[in-house]
Order: sequence, then C-alpha cells, then structure tokens
Amino acid sequence: MLDLDGIRRDTRGVTTVNHLNNAGASLMPAPVADAVVGYLRQEESYGGYETARARRDDLEDVYDALAALISADPSELAITDNATRAWDMAFYGLRFDPGDRILTTTTEYAANYIAYLQVSRRTGAIVDVVPDTATGEIDVDALDAMIDDRVKVVSMNHMPTNSGLLNPAAEVGAVTRRHGVPFLLDACQTVGQVPIDVDAIGCDILTATSRKFLRGPRGVGFLYVGRSMLARLEPPMLDLHGATWVANDRYEVRSDARRFELWERNFAGQVGLAVAVRYALEVGVEVIWDRVRHLAERLRSALAEIPGVTVTDIGAERGAIVTFTVDGMAPAAIRDALAAEGINVSVSSRAAARLDMERRHLDAVVRASPHYFNTEAEIDALVLAVDRLAGGAVYG
Ligand SMILES: Cc1ncc(COP(=O)(O)O)c(C=O)c1O
Repeated sequence: MLDLDGIRRDTRGVTTVNHLNNAGASLMPAPVADAVVGYLRQEESYGGYETARARRDDLEDVYDALAALISADPSELAITDNATRAWDMAFYGLRFDPGDRILTTTTEYAANYIAYLQVSRRTGAIVDVVPDTATGEIDVDALDAMIDDRVKVVSMNHMPTNSGLLNPAAEVGAVTRRHGVPFLLDACQTVGQVPIDVDAIGCDILTATSRKFLRGPRGVGFLYVGRSMLARLEPPMLDLHGATWVANDRYEVRSDARRFELWERNFAGQVGLAVAVRYALEVGVEVIWDRVRHLAERLRSALAEIPGVTVTDIGAERGAIVTFTVDGMAPAAIRDALAAEGINVSVSSRAAARLDMERRHLDAVVRASPHYFNTEAEIDALVLAVDRLAGGAVYG
C-alpha cells in the first residue's frame, strides 16, 4: 500500500509545483535532498577528503542499495556522472572490426546513436536497426533472425525518451544469451519506475541515472556490468582508481566494476543516490510501477478525449511517459503556458530520438511524466489546462 500522504509530506516540492516532469528530473524526497546538503555542509566544515573518510559507510551503501534494487552483486556496480557516461564507459570498451554489427532499435536515444555513428566512422562497424512490431517495441523474432557472428552487441533502451513504450527486455535477453552476444540495456527511464532484475532480464550491461524516476540528485548515474562481462570488458579510459600503477611499466586494472569509475566524483551525489535508492525500495518498486501506470493511463485517456490533442505514445505496455501534441501549437509554447500555471512538463524534440520521430513525422512532442507521488487531481489539472489551450471543447 502506498502511503501517499506520507510520501507527499516528504516531497516538499509538491507544495510549490505540479511536477509532471519526472522523466526529466524528479523532485527529490526530503531525506535525499537533506542527505546531499548535509554531506556538503560536512565537507564545508571538515574538508572533502576527511568527510569521505568519515562517511565511508554512507558512500559504500550505494553499491548495496543498487544491488538490492536491480538484483545484482555490489561488485558489479560503478558510480558515474550520469547515464550517458555509464553507457559510454561500457560501449566504448567494446571492440569492433570493419563489418562488425551493432544492433539497436527504432526508438534509440540520441546520445547512444551518436556513439554508434562515431564508432562506425572510426572502425567500419555497421549500425543495423532491428524492425519493430506493429505496436512499436523491438521485434524479438526479427532480432533473432538478424543475429550472426558479426553482431558484437545488441544495444537498446528499456523505455525511450519520447514515449511510454516498454521494450521486452527479458525476451531480448533470452535471444542474446542463446546467441552469446553482449546485451547493453539503457534503463535510464525505467530504473525507479519499473521493477528490474538483471538476471531475469539477461542483460550484460545496464545503465541508468539518479535524477529521473529514482528521485536522486543530478550529476550522478550508475553502470552495472555482469560478472562474466566484467572479465571481458576493458574500460576505454582508466585512472588511478580504476587501475593501480604497480611498476614503472605496468598497471593492474581492478577486478570489480569500479574499474569504470573515476577517483574524483560527486561524493555528495553518491550519498544522495544511496538514500534515493533506499527510499524507492522502501516505497516498493512493484507498488511504484502499479501507481505510475495508473496515473499515466488516466492522463492518456483523458487527453485523447480532447479534440485537437493527439497522444503520440507507442507501445503495447506503457509506463509513466505520456507524450502528445496540440494542433496549431508548438510543444515548447505548451510547456511554457503550462509552466505559467505551475505545471511542469517537458518537450521531446526530433533530435532526441530521430529515427522514431522522423518516421512518425513528429518534430517535437510535449512530454508529461507522472510519478507515484503525483495525485489524480494533479493529472486532472494538467488535462484541464491542456483542454483550455486546445480551445476548451471538453471542459469549457
Ligand atoms: C532513454 C534515455 N537514455 C539515456 C539518457 C541520458 O541520461 P543522462 O542525461 O543521465 O546521461 C536519457 C535522458 O533523457 C534517456 O531518456
């Protein structure tokens, strides 16, 4: 059972704003914000290195907390600056020869696709997009048929940046395992929203960020690399934390996933992320998943009733990202008009998920992303505001 009153008391931001931009950056719960501020205050008073020593247990807790969240081992986790750097540290560590293939999806995120193009230009590897099903998720049979011995990675998002679509990660994992091909899962939009078990999914690498559905601070992310992949994946960059300089001409790389970390990083953010993960575990990820789907579906069906409003989400199973357009109004103008009413949403542009947006002739969409702390009344307030912007046909 969700203790909505308690959760909203913990979420100080709900008194100032109707925050429906959790796919951008969520509102931190008070214990998270207080942990970050408290850590910084301690650094201010006692020094950064001294604080890190004194708070060692709190800094270490992030690995145990994340391991519990995604059913991994703490040694398989690394803390990074954000999801993209986590992803980069894994992807750029893979080896590609000319003609090797990277398989991905139609809804791939821009940062990842740019990396495919860069690596393709550097190495002669080929980027192949797996077709999707009629409802928009990756077609797992097509993926199966496309895999040959030139495929060096299957890399896809769990949920794209621009719609609530949930890709069938476990079905993809079953295929990649059968073929022995590494599976890199960008779970940036699902961690904290969707229950995740890396073994059940069968991914070798998973990346995510702190600030979105996990409700942690900005400037932190994490990387999971499964034990069997760890032995095969060398970080594209190393420092004196990921490796030790053991002789003048030799270094040794750490055996755990922290080989992908940097020595200097966002320590206050790391403590904040640990508290955010513990908070999500306390609320219960299954409970969160039920709640966000309920709120998102309420929003989608109400928006769909409004003449001139088009809900642009794809996917048979959908989560807490709801996208739409309003005839005759630029998405950025809608976002700004809603902001003036104290409602936070964001805009997904074509350049964020070009393959998907272009084929659907979408330049940009408004993205509303509720979380479990939102209320039905907040969803309805957004619907009312959009109706008014669209001409007031339904609610006047
Ligand atoms: C699907 C997806 N992957 C990756 C990212 C990148 O996350 P970060 O900004 O933490 O690097 C985003 C951010 O919006 C995203 O939506």
